[in-house]
Amino acid sequence: MAVVGRRDKAQQSLRSRIAIAIVIGVVTGCLIAFYFPHGLILSYPAVRSRPIGVSNIQVDSSSCESSEHIKMLKSEFVSLSDNNSKLKKQIRDLKHKLQLVEQGKDHAENQILVLGEQHKAGPFGTVKALRTSPTVVPDKSVNPRLAQILEEVAVEKELIVALANSNVKDTLEVWFSSIKRVGISNYLVIALDDYIVEFCKSNDVPVYKRDPDKGIDAVGKTGGNHAVSGLKFRILREFLQLGYSVLLSDVDIVYLQNPFNHLYRDSDVESMTDGHNNMTAYGYNDVFDEPEMGWARYAHTMRIWVFNSGFFYIRPTIASIELLDRVADRLARQENSWDQAVFNEELFFPSHPGYDGLHAAKRTMDFYMFMNSKVLFKTVRKDDKLKKLKPVIVHVNYHPNKLERMKAVVEFYVDGKRDALDAFPDGSE
Ligand SMILES: *[C@@H]1O[C@H](CO)[C@@H](O)[C@H](O)[C@H]1NC(C)=O
Ligand SMILES: *[C@@H]1O[C@H](CO)[C@@H](O)[C@H](O)[C@H]1NC(C)=O
Repeated sequence: MAVVGRRDKAQQSLRSRIAIAIVIGVVTGCLIAFYFPHGLILSYPAVRSRPIGVSNIQVDSSSCESSEHIKMLKSEFVSLSDNNSKLKKQIRDLKHKLQLVEQGKDHAENQILVLGEQHKAGPFGTVKALRTSPTVVPDKSVNPRLAQILEEVAVEKELIVALANSNVKDTLEVWFSSIKRVGISNYLVIALDDYIVEFCKSNDVPVYKRDPDKGIDAVGKTGGNHAVSGLKFRILREFLQLGYSVLLSDVDIVYLQNPFNHLYRDSDVESMTDGHNNMTAYGYNDVFDEPEMGWARYAHTMRIWVFNSGFFYIRPTIASIELLDRVADRLARQENSWDQAVFNEELFFPSHPGYDGLHAAKRTMDFYMFMNSKVLFKTVRKDDKLKKLKPVIVHVNYHPNKLERMKAVVEFYVDGKRDALDAFPDGSE
């Protein structure tokens, strides 16, 4: 019995050991399920890379539905929905990137449509971006009468165009006399009243008056100053649509050479400048000083004196027409805006949030050849070397006594009267 009793004891202890082992096994299982819900073999990155979603919650050990396990599931759920919202954000970002790429593709495709074939970039130092836009297809239906006139007047699809009303009759006379003197035939006066039509006809000057029923003429007659300066840009549009390059000219300008022999024709807009030396005319880095910024006290700024909107050459391109439309639109909407300021802002301000800048190529004309009256009266007439140069034009834009100064310019450069400019002050009095 003792043996039996010992054997019984032994059997009992074996059973209890088995029971303990089972308990240990179950507890270990629960612990493993708790700490490694995704199994022991998966490495951490593999856990990360599995698809995430609520449906992926697995009940790893159905035998351990303790409140702890439920808590654990809850926290996993929270973490998953957290990850879900992170994922949603990532998807949003990706969609946005995709959109940008597609826009870029669209843009690139449009470019190809406009420019034709794609090119490989050449070797260092040989690449040049396209700056000469293609011209528009001429559309005669826009204004058949003007198309007819331009066919007769233009040379090589180019001409000088000036707007005039009877207020500027005297300067207009000096203007067209100087043009005739240098033998230019491709020019046209847009008469804003009947007096100028007759005045031009009697002087054998090519003249054009718009049909009175056109809506934009009403703007010219009844509108304020800003509306009239907007008119210039609207009228120009038709010339470009008809396929002509226009050298737009104010009438306070004296022609001393044929400007068509001095153009580059590589840009949408090629303009004379209000600048008076290399820096102001062609652009410079203007350093703005803020001493309180210490190390970063110098802020660099880009500056250029404005293009003169009274003398510019504009090619018949989409960019040019867009420029005219933008300027005319702003002048029509904004009371008291100055056409020259608007013209320059549209040409030079870059795209930025909420604004798409114009993509037009521009060139500044040589400020000694296409001379403004500040350059003439402040610099050139006092410099023996510069005095000997003959400009292409002189624009009396900086002075109010235009007629007197224009006549003096003619005397100085045409008649050779060396002291013709001497009596005038540098600026206005
Ligand atoms: C949620 O994402 C983080 C990393 O972004 C990861 O460490 C965690 O395991 C994820 N949670 C779940 C429940 O998948
Ligand atoms: C202005 O620039 C021209 C060439 O672009 C140069 O020949 C001339 O010397 C410059 N003038 C001054 C005053 O720097």
